[in-house]
Amino acid sequence: MSAALEIDDLTVVYDHFHALKNVSITVERGESFGLVGESGSGKSTLLRAVAGLAPVSGGAINIDGEPLKGSKRSKVFYRRVQMVFQDPYGSLHPRQTIDRLLLEPLAIHGIADGEKRIARALDEVGLGNGFRFRYPHQLSGGQRQRVAIARALIVEPSILLLDEPTSALDASVQAEVLNLLEEIRRDRRLTFVMVSHDLGVVTHMCERLAVMRNGFVVERLSSQELAKGAVHEDYTRNLMIASKGFVKA
Ligand SMILES: Nc1ncnc2c1ncn2[C@@H]1O[C@H](COP(=O)(O)OP(=O)(O)OP(=O)(O)O)[C@@H](O)[C@H]1O
Ligand SMILES: [Mg+2]
Repeated sequence: MSAALEIDDLTVVYDHFHALKNVSITVERGESFGLVGESGSGKSTLLRAVAGLAPVSGGAINIDGEPLKGSKRSKVFYRRVQMVFQDPYGSLHPRQTIDRLLLEPLAIHGIADGEKRIARALDEVGLGNGFRFRYPHQLSGGQRQRVAIARALIVEPSILLLDEPTSALDASVQAEVLNLLEEIRRDRRLTFVMVSHDLGVVTHMCERLAVMRNGFVVERLSSQELAKGAVHEDYTRNLMIASKGFVKA
């Protein structure tokens, strides 16, 4: 069986700036894979490339064994990968009700059954139907992020790309949203790729991770290795020290 996501020798260049350089990562089906690294190391760029939103100039991305680029892909193919961003306020249009926000991806992908799917998606993220006709500003940060998750899930992806999904939230709300994500991953047998600067979150949520620096992957680790401090690079050790609440290396 092919991997859920296979990134092979990927290079992304913005103008003349190499944001990703020969990055290779394989994520198995149902796995939760973490990406860590200092600011500007290329974590978001990697997620954007997988979502088809970055200027890929070399290498390949395969999803369920099929190339992202190349032959003409159907909308069904693009549905497989959905992204959740850090800032739920920025990613939800302020003048649209939750109902409209959830209807939009269904319309884009030509998915019928809107009513039923919206009710189900809200239920799945722990928001009742009462939230349907509210606006984003009438929700708490945690509730907004639940809407962003519902919006990603409503088209039934197989891979969820999570870019600092809880770093804008208070610690207790963060734990709730992380538990929700973990539940959803289990129930739906989803594959996660998750960016976080909080190594505690990554060890809790992910089985394996890649450490990024200046557009390169400098180290690959299991979460157990990270938790034990069994790392090879000083750079990774410094990330551990910089990460609040994480065991000191
Ligand atoms: N659209 C763009 N045009 C030009 N350069 C870009 C663009 N997007 C990102 N970059 C550059 O690519 C590099 C990697 O950016 P990226 O957003 O992937 O970093 P990151 O690891 O997600 O950082 P952070 O932890 O701060 O979110 C940075 O140097 C950034 O300035
Ligand atoms: Mg980023």
